[in-house]
Amino acid sequence: MSVHWLVQNGSDVPPGVDWLAPGEQEALAALRFPKRRADWRLGRWTAKRAVCALLGLDEPGGWPEVEVRNDPLGAPFVRHRGQAAPCRLSISHRADAALCSVAPLGHELGCDLEWIEPRSAAFVEDYLVESERAVLEAAPAAERELLGNLFWSAKESASKALGLGLRLDARELRVALDEPLEESWRGFSVSFRGQVLHGWWRRCGRYLLTVVDRWQGGPPIALAHGARGTLLRTSVERAVREAGRREGR
Ligand SMILES: CC(C)(COP(=O)(O)OP(=O)(O)OC[C@H]1O[C@@H](n2cnc3c(N)ncnc32)[C@H](O)[C@@H]1OP(=O)(O)O)[C@@H](O)C(=O)NCCC(=O)NCCS
Repeated sequence: MSVHWLVQNGSDVPPGVDWLAPGEQEALAALRFPKRRADWRLGRWTAKRAVCALLGLDEPGGWPEVEVRNDPLGAPFVRHRGQAAPCRLSISHRADAALCSVAPLGHELGCDLEWIEPRSAAFVEDYLVESERAVLEAAPAAERELLGNLFWSAKESASKALGLGLRLDARELRVALDEPLEESWRGFSVSFRGQVLHGWWRRCGRYLLTVVDRWQGGPPIALAHGARGTLLRTSVERAVREAGRREGR
């Protein structure tokens, strides 16, 4: 079965904490900084909706029964009614939007959401390897910003799929982009210590989404319907509009 994805933004998140599991309410209470609290709530909300849709759980009744925890290295995992849930997931939050990729057990996932923005020469020097820098230099000027963010995002997704997160030197990961495909998701691969991980990327306005799955499968599938036929509309376009409004564009 394929990997699925869902994007939600800040205005999708319900007020209060009733939709969180008791353990999540405790975890939230321990977070002190408002931005971290908002990002965390948005990530949990997106993850719960994605898990409910994948597993066919009742909404909204299922929300507090789904608990997203983090392992000691920070990687998220899911419990349902106190038991390990039969799914894997990855979460990313950025610029008032969150991306969750979710799949049945067996997959090892990482996803990342970036706001496409200029990256400095020092950033390129510090985080990209020679082959990536060569692609960047050969690209038309208009594509460089996207590519710089794409190489970075692919590494973030790969480091999450490996479960390593921050503990990895970005230059140990080497990204290669596939030829553009017809679909809106396009492929890439990431080499790391003799392994090759496969991933997918797409652009939505100023957002860039990447998903890496250690099982090579087809492109991620948007979660369209939850339990009771609830439409789980991917809200990337809305997030882009709202972010644009905030920035006065
Ligand atoms: C996880 C990481 C890779 C990305 O974090 P980030 O870009 O700051 O934030 P994102 O919103 O994209 O991702 C955060 C989520 O990643 C997940 N995550 C954290 N550690 C993780 C790990 N070891 N493995 C998998 N997922 C992890 C969590 O779900 C977290 O959200 P939560 O704490 O609300 O549950 C983190 O290691 C980090 O802070 N990296 C900083 C940059 C860096 O050096 N990256 C290495 C690139 S090779």
